[in-house]
Amino acid sequence: MAKFNRYLITAALPYANGPVHIGHLAGCYLPADIYVRYLRAKKVDVKFVCGTDEHGVPITIKAMKEGVTPQDIVDKYHKIIGDSFAAMGISFDIFSRTSNAIHHKTSQDFFLKMYNDGLFEVKESEQYFDPEKNVFLADRYIIGTCPKCGNDRAYGDQCERCGSSLSPDELINPHSALSNAVPVKKKTKHWYMPLQNYEPWLKQWILEEHKEWKNNVYGQCKSWLEQGLQSRAMTRDSNWGIQVPLPDAEGKVLYVWFDAPIGYISATKELTDNWADYWCKDDTKLVHFIGKDNIVFHCVIFPAMLKAHGDFVLPENVPANEFLNLEGDKVSTSRNWAVWVNDYIEDFPDQQDVLRYVLCSIAPETKDSDFTWKDFQDRNNNELVAVFGNFINRAMVLMHKLCGGKVPPLHEAFIEEGDRDMLKEFGIAKEKIENSLENYRFREAQAEVIEFARKGNGYMQKTAPWILASVIENLTNGKSNEKYPQYVHCTEQDIPYLKARIDISLHISLQMTANLAIFSHPFLPFTARKICHMLKVVDRMLEWENAGSDKLVNVGYSLRPPELLFKKIEDAQVKDQVEKLHARLKAATAAAAAADAALAPAAETPAKPEIQYDDFAKLDLRVGTILKAEKVEKADKLLKLLVDIGTEQRTVVSGIAMHFNPDEIVGKQVTLVANLAPRKMRGIESQGMILMAEDNGKLVFVNPNEAVKPGSGVS
Ligand code: MF3
Ligand code: ZN
Repeated sequence: MAKFNRYLITAALPYANGPVHIGHLAGCYLPADIYVRYLRAKKVDVKFVCGTDEHGVPITIKAMKEGVTPQDIVDKYHKIIGDSFAAMGISFDIFSRTSNAIHHKTSQDFFLKMYNDGLFEVKESEQYFDPEKNVFLADRYIIGTCPKCGNDRAYGDQCERCGSSLSPDELINPHSALSNAVPVKKKTKHWYMPLQNYEPWLKQWILEEHKEWKNNVYGQCKSWLEQGLQSRAMTRDSNWGIQVPLPDAEGKVLYVWFDAPIGYISATKELTDNWADYWCKDDTKLVHFIGKDNIVFHCVIFPAMLKAHGDFVLPENVPANEFLNLEGDKVSTSRNWAVWVNDYIEDFPDQQDVLRYVLCSIAPETKDSDFTWKDFQDRNNNELVAVFGNFINRAMVLMHKLCGGKVPPLHEAFIEEGDRDMLKEFGIAKEKIENSLENYRFREAQAEVIEFARKGNGYMQKTAPWILASVIENLTNGKSNEKYPQYVHCTEQDIPYLKARIDISLHISLQMTANLAIFSHPFLPFTARKICHMLKVVDRMLEWENAGSDKLVNVGYSLRPPELLFKKIEDAQVKDQVEKLHARLKAATAAAAAADAALAPAAETPAKPEIQYDDFAKLDLRVGTILKAEKVEKADKLLKLLVDIGTEQRTVVSGIAMHFNPDEIVGKQVTLVANLAPRKMRGIESQGMILMAEDNGKLVFVNPNEAVKPGSGVS
């Protein structure tokens, strides 16, 4: 322990493109917060930094889908995410954002230092390009049909229906998500980090020097390193992100996974002028809390960047968690299969600790785990209410009833073995909890807290002060105690002894209650504070050096009336939540189906009865060119067109105003039914009809695929 004089704890910067769900909490924010609260209680020098990750493709896609700017998106979600964390008691010292100027500067300086040290390779490669919008397309921006499952909304990097990871080349009928244009390949230049150069060092540092990392983390690193690393582009073509700080880099931004982890440094800078102590001194313990999808970035790429840049400490540990499933199914934001933290807070106000408790109990520390509302109810009702809350409530209620609302004395002379055994547990519990916390085993640590309360209940049951009180009452009133065989022979002379036994039981129970506040505080901060309030002690009691002490509340000190710490969760609440989940899944599935249908090939047009060639030959079809187009007054749907068919110009009134801008269609060729009897529409004589193809409500002109002389016949 002595090795480290300060701690820097980071939690992955969430993308600011949606709210956070309970999987995020269980994956990294809650364990990080528990660890930090424990460290603060130990009064070590610790900083806890986080913020939103505001660059990258997912944010621009979300903006595009909602028809707003990326800035609008990140502003909105920075606030929602920050509020959710605050409400859940996630106690960051700073919750920053990567759009802040200080971060742009820090990232650019980081890049420049590496650049000036010659640590990048410049390479040209062919990338997909949208010829209509004139921009390079990230893989995510290319949409097409999945070669594996036929989903026609698959992305160039992944099919969300079957989960296959894809490359844009594999997509059938690829098109740009921005314009629908068919992407073309175009040369582009980028700055690459030759990760293979860092491979020997990474192997030594992780595989040899950090064998203590969690199995899931160590295993993933090992397999990455054994597969061999390659150069990775640290820049991208985009107009959303941090400009590459070089003169010949217009339209280039830093790769989001280059800038985001530097966000930890920028946030520390924003937090304190002493930021360099945390980042540059060897006696800092840097710990990154993340979810498993971030392992390679935090264990391989970012450390390689830190090493390349020099001057920075490296993470001492990266205790990544696996994933949390929901009701037996993978969490999916696109299917809206998630419990959103902001929704939870609305539905369960003042019950943040219940969610914290349940998520810590089932945290996916070594493998994926599953959240169900039934289990949520069971853990609340059977553990928080029936064990933890019940013990503290009994101690408080009985102390008020039997000891006049004051902490009773311990009466050394009447102490028995059972009391001593219970007192011994204080230190044992403290050590177990501490040991589990130091080793990032938060489930185990929290289970020890409950175990301590369970022992308290057992002790209370055995010492049974309420029975002692009845015995005293019976003796005082001259009634028999035959109901209590153990005390049947007691006489009035035993009353002082019996009173002392009540005092001892409640004294010990109240010291346990105070310890439960300290023990539970990293996990259940709201509850710990309520206990302090009842015990009329200041929050300073929660400091870890007090843990395990049996002298936390003073004899004779009067305490507040008990308040209920936890309440039962009813079956109806569970039912509501499960129904809500399914209703949202259904709504999201329907919305996705509607979006798919809009893009699906046209429904078959019903066939018409057979005709003879002569019937067809009666039509005089001619190609014409639109010379003029204008809206027809007071008719939303009509355009008045002037069409040149070589020998003459025809006025045609056509019901296409909802589909085309008059200016856009001037000069286009169309096919005209030239011998259709004229018809008056809105007072204008329409001299023919133009042919249109309809694709699911979208209209397209039928015209020759090469321009032809106006008046050319069609047959
Ligand atoms: N935004 C990323 C995610 O949600 C995490 C970024 S962590 C950081 O997966 F280190 F890059 F900041
Ligand atoms: Zn697929």
